[in-house]
Amino acid sequence: MKDRRKSVATISVHAGSRPPESVTRPKVPPIYATSVFSFDYLDQIDEVYGGSARGYVYSRMSNPGIDLLEEAVAQLEDGGDAVAFASGMAAITTAVLASVSDGDHVLSARTLYGGTYTFFQDDLPKRGVSVTFVDINDLPSAREALRPETKVVYCETISNPTMEVADLPALAEMAHEAGALLMVDNTFASPVLCRPLTLGADVVIHSGTKYLNGHSDGLSGVLAVARESDDVPPRQGLAKRIRSMAEAYGPTPSPFDAWLLLRGIRTLSLRVQRHSENALKLARFLESHPKVTTVHYPGLESSTHHEVAKRVLSGGFGGMLSFEVTGGLEGARRFIDSLEMVELVPSLAGVSTTVSHPGKTSHRSIPLEERSPYGIGDGLIRVSTGIEDYADIEADFAQALENV
Ligand SMILES: Cc1ncc(COP(=O)(O)O)c(C=O)c1O
Repeated sequence: MKDRRKSVATISVHAGSRPPESVTRPKVPPIYATSVFSFDYLDQIDEVYGGSARGYVYSRMSNPGIDLLEEAVAQLEDGGDAVAFASGMAAITTAVLASVSDGDHVLSARTLYGGTYTFFQDDLPKRGVSVTFVDINDLPSAREALRPETKVVYCETISNPTMEVADLPALAEMAHEAGALLMVDNTFASPVLCRPLTLGADVVIHSGTKYLNGHSDGLSGVLAVARESDDVPPRQGLAKRIRSMAEAYGPTPSPFDAWLLLRGIRTLSLRVQRHSENALKLARFLESHPKVTTVHYPGLESSTHHEVAKRVLSGGFGGMLSFEVTGGLEGARRFIDSLEMVELVPSLAGVSTTVSHPGKTSHRSIPLEERSPYGIGDGLIRVSTGIEDYADIEADFAQALENV
């Protein structure tokens, strides 16, 4: 076979398909854009599956770039293990479904990202899992809503879209006393401002699409699980259950999105610092503006969440805020349509300042009468403060407010 010249069709299929040998390594780990890995001999399959040789098999199960991302997130969140997903919703649904079964109960914060709320409200009951929504910082009421079959207490560190800050140490204590897990969506805070596992939470979840990626160019999710501890029995085997459910259901991120996420994480700290500085200035500007009726930002001394925020967050209060202008929906429309630099974007946490309208986007699936008592009315505008020069952000808000 050695000297046989292959045809162009065969060369094009096989040539250049083995990574070159090199004693040096790339400064930045490459994107392992491969669905599967090649073995040198048949018994190697047993060696790799059995763990006597280190190797990859199939990218739904693991991929070097995804492993590196998971290692980074486990460290960032101070967890025992981390699992990456194709989206934040994939991470949320997998974490919850790996922890509940028919007959169980979930106690959840009532203000949440709309997709999570809808999953709890519509999907879990179909699986025989009941859900109670409470004001998560009204601890006596939350405690009263616990049941013997409560398996998960769920909240967001900073809630979408009204920026309520959850008292994580108190909630962890409450959940553990009841034999339940505390799961925290830390998307809005990021590990720069809060590391929920260090405050007692059992699972911390991110829409990687947001601050971790930071550039609005990739969709991903990731979660980290606390180290197993005898004091918290429901944690035993949890990371393993989540990982095997992810392998079975296949909500794996693409190697490219995982690479983008890890690349975004490199500048996370600097970005979140700047997002937070700009958001605090913008919240103060809006609070003093005559056409603004309400501002939700935990960094404001006037916020009912300021005291909890000072305990739970450190190094800033985040880049997200929301507010209402005079005139309800019509006022919000005039404001949004008058913006010049700031774009209307139904996501968040990119480098540029954007606004969205929760009632028409993230919370669209929740009827107005159900969400407005929680402050998510049709006049609410959510702001993702970017890292631009602050004066330029304020100038655009000021001119748009003139049209309200
Ligand atoms: C707080 C929060 N959690 C989870 C999600 C869902 O993330 P993804 O869109 O990556 O599925 C979002 C999306 O906006 C969010 O705002």
